[in-house]
Amino acid sequence: MRYRLRFFLFPVTLLCFAAAGLFRLQASKCNYTSYNETLDRVFRIIPPFPNVAAPGPYRCKMCAIVGNSRNLLGSHYGSLIDSHDIVIRMNRGRVKSYEEDVGSRTTHHILYPESAVNLENTTHLVFFPFKIRDFEWLFKKFDSKSPKSKTIANKDLVMIVNPAFMKYVHQEWLARKGHWASTGFMTFVLSLYMCDQVNVFGFGADSDGNWSHYFEKLRNKRLKTGLHPGKHEYDLFQKLHNKKKIQLFKG
Ligand code: C5P
Repeated sequence: MRYRLRFFLFPVTLLCFAAAGLFRLQASKCNYTSYNETLDRVFRIIPPFPNVAAPGPYRCKMCAIVGNSRNLLGSHYGSLIDSHDIVIRMNRGRVKSYEEDVGSRTTHHILYPESAVNLENTTHLVFFPFKIRDFEWLFKKFDSKSPKSKTIANKDLVMIVNPAFMKYVHQEWLARKGHWASTGFMTFVLSLYMCDQVNVFGFGADSDGNWSHYFEKLRNKRLKTGLHPGKHEYDLFQKLHNKKKIQLFKG
Protein backbone atom coordinates (compact mmCIF):
# COMPACT_ATOMS: atom_id res chain seq x y z
CA MET A 1 0.00 0.00 0.00
CA ARG A 2 1.62 3.22 -1.07
CA TYR A 3 0.37 6.77 -0.83
CA ARG A 4 1.16 9.53 -3.25
CA LEU A 5 3.37 12.24 -1.80
CA ARG A 6 1.47 15.31 -0.75
CA PHE A 7 2.94 18.76 -0.98
CA PHE A 8 3.11 19.36 2.74
CA LEU A 9 4.76 16.09 3.55
CA PHE A 10 7.84 15.72 1.44
CA PRO A 11 10.48 16.91 1.33
CA VAL A 12 9.78 16.57 5.02
CA THR A 13 11.98 19.53 5.77
CA LEU A 14 9.77 21.98 3.90
CA LEU A 15 8.16 23.37 7.00
CA CYS A 16 5.06 25.43 7.06
CA PHE A 17 3.44 26.69 10.17
CA ALA A 18 0.40 24.64 11.06
CA ALA A 19 -0.91 27.29 13.40
CA ALA A 20 -4.08 25.53 14.46
CA GLY A 21 -2.29 22.35 15.33
CA LEU A 22 0.54 24.05 17.10
CA PHE A 23 -1.42 26.68 19.00
CA ARG A 24 -3.39 24.15 20.94
CA LEU A 25 -0.24 22.41 22.14
CA GLN A 26 1.88 25.48 22.55
CA ALA A 27 1.71 27.12 25.96
CA SER A 28 3.56 30.29 24.95
CA LYS A 29 2.39 32.76 22.32
CA CYS A 30 3.50 32.29 18.75
CA ASN A 31 5.88 34.81 17.28
CA TYR A 32 6.34 34.29 13.55
CA THR A 33 9.58 36.26 13.40
CA SER A 34 11.31 34.18 16.02
CA TYR A 35 9.79 31.03 14.54
CA ASN A 36 11.25 31.80 11.12
CA GLU A 37 14.61 32.75 12.62
CA THR A 38 14.71 29.51 14.56
CA LEU A 39 13.93 27.51 11.43
CA ASP A 40 16.68 29.30 9.51
CA ARG A 41 19.15 28.44 12.22
CA VAL A 42 18.02 24.81 12.32
CA PHE A 43 18.39 24.37 8.57
CA ARG A 44 21.84 25.90 8.58
CA ILE A 45 22.88 22.91 10.68
CA ILE A 46 20.85 20.00 9.42
CA PRO A 47 20.35 19.18 5.72
CA PRO A 48 17.32 21.00 4.26
CA PHE A 49 16.58 18.13 1.89
CA PRO A 50 16.71 14.68 3.45
CA ASN A 51 17.72 11.72 1.41
CA VAL A 52 14.34 10.06 0.83
CA ALA A 53 14.20 7.65 -2.08
CA ALA A 54 11.59 8.50 -4.69
CA PRO A 55 8.97 5.86 -5.43
CA GLY A 56 9.46 3.83 -8.57
CA PRO A 57 7.92 0.82 -10.26
CA TYR A 58 11.07 -1.28 -9.85
CA ARG A 59 11.37 -1.27 -6.12
CA CYS A 60 9.43 -2.58 -3.19
CA LYS A 61 10.55 -1.03 0.05
CA MET A 62 9.31 -3.08 2.97
CA CYS A 63 8.94 -1.29 6.27
CA ALA A 64 8.48 -2.53 9.81
CA ILE A 65 6.81 -0.01 12.09
CA VAL A 66 7.60 -1.00 15.65
CA GLY A 67 5.39 0.48 18.36
CA ASN A 68 6.20 0.07 22.03
CA SER A 69 3.41 -2.30 23.07
CA ARG A 70 4.01 -4.95 25.67
CA ASN A 71 2.50 -7.49 23.26
CA LEU A 72 5.99 -7.74 21.70
CA LEU A 73 7.27 -9.66 24.73
CA GLY A 74 7.62 -13.33 23.86
CA SER A 75 6.64 -12.69 20.22
CA HIS A 76 9.97 -13.82 18.69
CA TYR A 77 9.45 -11.23 15.95
CA GLY A 78 13.08 -10.06 16.14
CA SER A 79 14.51 -11.63 13.00
CA LEU A 80 11.34 -10.90 11.01
CA ILE A 81 11.50 -7.21 11.98
CA ASP A 82 15.21 -7.05 11.11
CA SER A 83 14.56 -8.50 7.65
CA HIS A 84 12.75 -5.31 6.50
CA ASP A 85 14.46 -2.63 4.38
CA ILE A 86 13.35 0.05 6.80
CA VAL A 87 12.82 -0.48 10.53
CA ILE A 88 11.13 2.43 12.29
CA ARG A 89 11.05 2.68 16.08
CA MET A 90 9.85 5.46 18.28
CA ASN A 91 10.29 7.40 21.51
CA ARG A 92 11.96 5.32 24.22
CA GLY A 93 11.65 2.08 22.27
CA ARG A 94 14.90 0.15 22.72
CA VAL A 95 16.47 -3.04 21.44
CA LYS A 96 19.18 -3.98 23.95
CA SER A 97 18.13 -7.09 25.87
CA TYR A 98 14.94 -7.42 23.76
CA GLU A 99 16.51 -8.42 20.42
CA GLU A 100 14.70 -11.72 20.12
CA ASP A 101 11.30 -10.04 20.28
CA VAL A 102 11.92 -6.61 18.74
CA GLY A 103 15.00 -7.07 16.54
CA SER A 104 18.21 -5.08 16.63
CA ARG A 105 18.18 -2.83 13.55
CA THR A 106 16.80 0.70 13.56
CA THR A 107 16.99 2.68 10.35
CA HIS A 108 14.64 5.46 11.51
CA HIS A 109 13.74 6.59 15.02
CA ILE A 110 10.85 8.97 15.68
CA LEU A 111 11.48 11.46 18.48
CA TYR A 112 10.35 14.67 20.04
CA PRO A 113 12.28 16.42 22.83
CA GLU A 114 10.39 14.87 25.72
CA SER A 115 10.96 11.35 24.40
CA ALA A 116 14.54 11.80 23.19
CA VAL A 117 17.14 9.06 23.44
CA ASN A 118 20.62 8.84 21.94
CA LEU A 119 20.70 7.18 18.53
CA GLU A 120 23.27 5.18 16.59
CA ASN A 121 25.30 7.12 14.05
CA THR A 122 23.58 5.29 11.18
CA THR A 123 19.99 5.83 12.36
CA HIS A 124 17.83 8.63 10.92
CA LEU A 125 16.38 10.85 13.59
CA VAL A 126 12.85 11.66 12.41
CA PHE A 127 11.82 14.67 14.41
CA PHE A 128 8.16 15.37 15.15
CA PRO A 129 7.99 19.01 16.28
CA PHE A 130 4.90 19.73 18.38
CA LYS A 131 5.72 23.29 19.38
CA ILE A 132 8.11 26.11 18.50
CA ARG A 133 10.35 25.36 21.45
CA ASP A 134 11.01 21.94 19.93
CA PHE A 135 12.94 23.56 17.08
CA GLU A 136 15.02 25.51 19.58
CA TRP A 137 15.74 22.27 21.42
CA LEU A 138 16.86 20.60 18.19
CA PHE A 139 19.08 23.53 17.29
CA LYS A 140 20.79 23.44 20.69
CA LYS A 141 21.41 19.71 20.40
CA PHE A 142 23.39 20.16 17.20
CA ASP A 143 24.90 23.61 17.55
CA SER A 144 28.51 22.99 18.56
CA LYS A 145 28.72 26.54 19.99
CA SER A 146 25.81 25.99 22.35
CA PRO A 147 26.67 24.98 25.94
CA LYS A 148 23.68 22.60 25.76
CA SER A 149 25.02 20.90 22.66
CA LYS A 150 25.03 17.14 23.13
CA THR A 151 24.93 15.12 19.98
CA ILE A 152 22.09 12.64 20.09
CA ALA A 153 22.21 11.57 16.45
CA ASN A 154 24.03 12.04 13.18
CA LYS A 155 22.98 15.54 12.09
CA ASP A 156 23.24 14.58 8.42
CA LEU A 157 20.50 12.01 8.94
CA VAL A 158 18.00 14.26 10.69
CA MET A 159 14.58 14.61 9.04
CA ILE A 160 11.92 17.00 10.32
CA VAL A 161 8.28 16.28 9.73
CA ASN A 162 6.19 19.26 8.79
CA PRO A 163 3.97 20.23 11.76
CA ALA A 164 1.07 20.39 9.31
CA PHE A 165 1.33 16.62 9.11
CA MET A 166 0.04 16.26 12.65
CA LYS A 167 -3.04 18.29 11.77
CA TYR A 168 -3.55 16.29 8.59
CA VAL A 169 -3.49 12.97 10.46
CA HIS A 170 -5.82 14.27 13.19
CA GLN A 171 -8.35 15.62 10.70
CA GLU A 172 -8.18 13.32 7.72
CA TRP A 173 -7.28 9.98 9.27
CA LEU A 174 -8.84 10.20 12.71
CA ALA A 175 -11.81 12.48 11.99
CA ARG A 176 -10.64 14.72 14.89
CA LYS A 177 -11.17 11.95 17.47
CA GLY A 178 -9.10 12.28 20.65
CA HIS A 179 -6.88 15.28 21.34
CA TRP A 180 -4.36 14.30 18.69
CA ALA A 181 -2.89 11.22 17.05
CA SER A 182 -0.40 9.08 18.93
CA THR A 183 3.24 9.09 17.86
CA GLY A 184 2.74 5.53 16.68
CA PHE A 185 -0.21 6.33 14.48
CA MET A 186 1.51 9.37 12.95
CA THR A 187 4.53 7.19 12.31
CA PHE A 188 2.33 4.66 10.58
CA VAL A 189 0.78 7.28 8.28
CA LEU A 190 4.23 8.68 7.53
CA SER A 191 5.43 5.22 6.60
CA LEU A 192 2.77 5.00 3.90
CA TYR A 193 4.66 7.79 2.12
CA MET A 194 8.07 6.16 2.52
CA CYS A 195 7.33 2.49 2.00
CA ASP A 196 5.71 0.21 -0.53
CA GLN A 197 4.71 -2.42 2.00
CA VAL A 198 4.02 -1.68 5.65
CA ASN A 199 4.10 -4.27 8.41
CA VAL A 200 2.99 -3.13 11.83
CA PHE A 201 4.38 -4.56 15.10
CA GLY A 202 4.04 -3.58 18.74
CA PHE A 203 0.66 -1.88 18.73
CA GLY A 204 -2.21 -2.63 21.07
CA ALA A 205 -3.25 -2.01 24.66
CA ASP A 206 -2.89 -4.63 27.40
CA SER A 207 -5.87 -6.51 28.86
CA ASP A 208 -6.66 -3.54 31.15
CA GLY A 209 -6.78 -1.17 28.18
CA ASN A 210 -3.46 0.52 29.04
CA TRP A 211 -0.69 1.34 26.61
CA SER A 212 1.96 -0.53 28.59
CA HIS A 213 5.51 -0.79 27.21
CA TYR A 214 7.59 -3.89 26.56
CA PHE A 215 10.63 -2.35 28.25
CA GLU A 216 9.18 -1.23 31.59
CA LYS A 217 6.61 -2.03 34.24
CA LEU A 218 3.45 0.05 34.02
CA ARG A 219 3.27 2.52 36.90
CA ASN A 220 0.09 4.43 36.08
CA LYS A 221 -2.64 1.79 36.07
CA ARG A 222 -5.13 4.37 34.82
CA LEU A 223 -3.06 5.40 31.82
CA LYS A 224 -5.42 3.90 29.19
CA THR A 225 -4.32 5.40 25.85
CA GLY A 226 -3.65 8.88 27.22
CA LEU A 227 -5.08 11.73 25.19
CA HIS A 228 -5.03 9.67 22.01
CA PRO A 229 -7.94 7.85 20.36
CA GLY A 230 -6.16 4.53 20.89
CA LYS A 231 -9.10 2.26 20.14
CA HIS A 232 -9.98 4.12 16.97
CA GLU A 233 -6.35 3.97 15.81
CA TYR A 234 -6.20 0.25 16.48
CA ASP A 235 -9.52 -0.35 14.70
CA LEU A 236 -8.08 1.39 11.64
CA PHE A 237 -5.03 -0.90 11.70
CA GLN A 238 -7.34 -3.85 11.98
CA LYS A 239 -9.52 -2.66 9.10
CA LEU A 240 -6.50 -2.10 6.83
CA HIS A 241 -5.18 -5.51 7.81
CA ASN A 242 -8.51 -7.17 6.96
CA LYS A 243 -8.43 -5.45 3.57
CA LYS A 244 -4.89 -6.77 3.07
CA LYS A 245 -3.46 -3.25 2.74
CA ILE A 246 -1.03 -3.73 5.63
CA GLN A 247 -0.05 -6.59 7.90
CA LEU A 248 -0.71 -6.19 11.59
CA PHE A 249 1.37 -8.50 13.80
CA LYS A 250 -0.39 -8.80 17.14
CA GLY A 251 2.28 -10.52 19.22
O1 C5P B 1 4.14 5.03 24.53
P1 C5P B 1 4.83 5.47 23.30
O2 C5P B 1 4.16 6.68 22.67
O3 C5P B 1 6.28 5.68 23.43
O4 C5P B 1 4.66 4.27 22.27
C1 C5P B 1 4.84 4.45 20.89
C2 C5P B 1 3.54 4.18 20.18
O5 C5P B 1 3.24 2.79 20.23
C3 C5P B 1 2.33 4.87 20.79
O6 C5P B 1 2.26 6.20 20.34
C4 C5P B 1 1.19 3.99 20.34
O7 C5P B 1 0.79 4.35 19.03
C5 C5P B 1 1.84 2.61 20.30
N1 C5P B 1 1.54 1.79 21.47
C6 C5P B 1 0.48 0.89 21.41
N2 C5P B 1 0.23 0.06 22.46
C7 C5P B 1 0.99 0.09 23.56
C8 C5P B 1 2.07 0.99 23.66
C9 C5P B 1 2.31 1.84 22.59
O8 C5P B 1 -0.24 0.84 20.40
N3 C5P B 1 0.72 -0.77 24.55
